Amino acid sequence: MTDPQIVLTERVQQALANAFGSEYADADPLIRPSQFADFQANVAMSLAKRLRRAPREVAETLKAALSDFPGTVEVSGPGFLNITLDDSWIASEAAEMLADPRTGVGTAAPSQTVVIDYSAPNAAKEMHVGHLRTTIVGDSLARVHELLGNHVIRQNHLGDWGTPFGMLIEHLLDIGEEAAIAQLEAGMGTEYYQAARAKFDSDETFKQRSRVRVTTLQSGDPETIRLWHVFMDATVRYFDKIYGLLGVTLTDADIAGESIYNPMLEKTCDDLQAAGVAVLSEGALCVFPPGFTGSDDKPLPLIIRKSDGGYGYATTDMAAVRYRVDDLKADRVLYVVGADQALHFRMVFAAARLAGWLPDTVSAEHVQIGMMLGKDGRRFKTRSGESIKLMDLLQEAVDRADALLDERGYDDATRAEIARAVGMGAVKYADLSVSHDSEYVFDFDRMLAFTGNTAPYLQYAQARIRSIFRRGDIDPATATGPITLGHPAERALALQVLGFGAVVEQVAALSEPHRLAAFLYATATTFTAFVENCPVIKEGVDPETRASRLALCALTLRVLHDGLHLLGVPVPDRM
Ligand code: ARG
Repeated sequence: MTDPQIVLTERVQQALANAFGSEYADADPLIRPSQFADFQANVAMSLAKRLRRAPREVAETLKAALSDFPGTVEVSGPGFLNITLDDSWIASEAAEMLADPRTGVGTAAPSQTVVIDYSAPNAAKEMHVGHLRTTIVGDSLARVHELLGNHVIRQNHLGDWGTPFGMLIEHLLDIGEEAAIAQLEAGMGTEYYQAARAKFDSDETFKQRSRVRVTTLQSGDPETIRLWHVFMDATVRYFDKIYGLLGVTLTDADIAGESIYNPMLEKTCDDLQAAGVAVLSEGALCVFPPGFTGSDDKPLPLIIRKSDGGYGYATTDMAAVRYRVDDLKADRVLYVVGADQALHFRMVFAAARLAGWLPDTVSAEHVQIGMMLGKDGRRFKTRSGESIKLMDLLQEAVDRADALLDERGYDDATRAEIARAVGMGAVKYADLSVSHDSEYVFDFDRMLAFTGNTAPYLQYAQARIRSIFRRGDIDPATATGPITLGHPAERALALQVLGFGAVVEQVAALSEPHRLAAFLYATATTFTAFVENCPVIKEGVDPETRASRLALCALTLRVLHDGLHLLGVPVPDRM
């Protein structure tokens, strides 16, 4: 692990143990980036009381215990330790990272099975912008866990079952299979749903037919199941177009919609009831997990079978927990789903723990996704109040990106490819660069800007490095140094990129891709300062400096390329 902050943490902890006893070996040394040195450690102040000594004295003792440290340690103020790393240490760590095919990213030990539930649009309706974030954040987490060597199982928990399917199938019979397929494949799911709904509300015989159809669907009648497949397959083909345009790694093999749990629901309820975890309350079968109360202070039920005998969203999720633990053998289950479902998941997890279906060795985590807002600060919608169609939104991003490429002289095919990369990159990065649980304002102008914390800025930074290599006619793979650090901008860049492996691990541990985004942005700005101060292939640069700077460029290129790839942001060679 080359991350300086982690190396420092370990060294200071060692020093603490040596100076004050092993019980201090895992005290937090409170290492932070500093204005006056590379880092400062504030542990002397926090431990002074416990040690019954003056903070400055503690700091001096630590300084002495750090005498073999590859850098300088100074005590300042009331007891800060200011730590500056030796250039030679930074350079050799950077060289090691460059030589490492994994660019400093370790492998998870032990490797875990991580089930990631994400995207999960509802087939009865058009996939809308609300599903964009869960798709993008979930996909990034999947990529990160895979790189770390975890066994990732993607689960696209499609809304593909339930009472609306009675009327959706009857509507399909009314308009004909061909027309239905054409409409659904074109992404007109909302229109299709609304037409079915209108008939359901106004036409008594249609309503009756729909009700009967739900029953035949649930009983597994072969012709009804065939019709359901006609509907679902066309819908999934549309989802796949969106995934394809976005460059999301989900495939049809990852679909594990609500329908797959249908055969398990009865047993789910029976087992919970037999175990005494679920009880009948006013005719409904409910779990009352302790600690959940409503506004009236009454225990809050998780309803797993309605009084009319129907199963719901919670029943399916109870069955899904069991399946993911028992059959998929999950160590961790990540639910990348809207924040508005927080209570639902807390109750499902609590009920599953009660039932013993979710053992303490398995962690279930709701990765809460904040709402996407329009520029007016309200839920993102069109003027007429309709949800915005995802495909239209994505197409607009590509079109706007394309307009930014005017006069750059690309041939049509190259231009189209770059426009897609920039447009999709912008939409995805805007989502990933803010913490997943905060609301965020969808703003094309901001996300497509070439300056600031945006995808185009980062894509441009890496394209700029590539162009240095192209102009010098050098293959980045041959830029192996040696690295020597002269100019402060070289040192700053080397120090910055060393943090890559640690940040990737943090993203996996905390499910927070925005940490990687922030790291990449800092890397790109540090690189920009570097190229502006340190000519690389210009005439007059001596061969050693040139070799070292090319190696720093190659290392930065790999960090930006691999990092953007982990976020799922496309990385065009040129821009
Ligand atoms: N289809 C649901 C929705 O759109 C999300 C499903 C999330 N996953 C789950 N296991 N409940 O709100």
